[in-house]
Amino acid sequence: MKFFIDTANLDQIREANELGVLDGVTTNPSLMAKENIRGEENCRRHYAAICAIVDGDVSAEVIATDYEGMIREGEELAAIHPNIVVKLPCTAEGIRAVRYFAGKGIRTNCTLVFSPGQALLAAKAGATYVSPFVGRLDDICSDGVELVGKIVEMYRYYGYPTQVLAASIRHTQHIMQCVEAGADVATCPLAAIKGLLRHPLTDSGLAAFLADHKRVNG
Ligand code: E4P
Repeated sequence: MKFFIDTANLDQIREANELGVLDGVTTNPSLMAKENIRGEENCRRHYAAICAIVDGDVSAEVIATDYEGMIREGEELAAIHPNIVVKLPCTAEGIRAVRYFAGKGIRTNCTLVFSPGQALLAAKAGATYVSPFVGRLDDICSDGVELVGKIVEMYRYYGYPTQVLAASIRHTQHIMQCVEAGADVATCPLAAIKGLLRHPLTDSGLAAFLADHKRVNG
């Protein structure tokens, strides 16, 4: 199970990386905008800064929605660093672009996936990762974790090497549910990753150990 952090915030990426359990980063245009990163050149610089922090895959999303634009942007993004994974929306143009990049040996993350059929096309096109959006499905009273499980099962049955990257993770329980569903990767907010550490028995146990030590050692 790999952990990616879902943010473009360099401080949060550093903090997660320092935990020693971070395998990569996912970003999207909204997360880049949240950090106020404007213009293609600044975006490229920001992706390079992320790659300098984390030794793992970094998804960088294209803005273009037409095939030619996706190819141009994707090639520019892939040239930034060997760890860049070109993130493409699950549209007809995006699937064509996934196929193109697969042929060139450039890794891709097919994003905005909300159905097993979309995930099937992404795998057939040769995506490295497919990103089902768990939280956004839960938001509309659908079952995001169930979708992750269905895609995992389908890929196992047919032997597709595409990795299932559970995205739109909103909280710690989502992470554990995606683990149970067999996701290869979960991309999470920092708070959800840190939530895995929380347990009242750990806190009270540690307090008791330290109190006993102090009683004897002063
Ligand atoms: C995936 O790679 C996306 O960046 C992300 O997980 C979207 O999550 P959201 O639904 O919280 O915006």
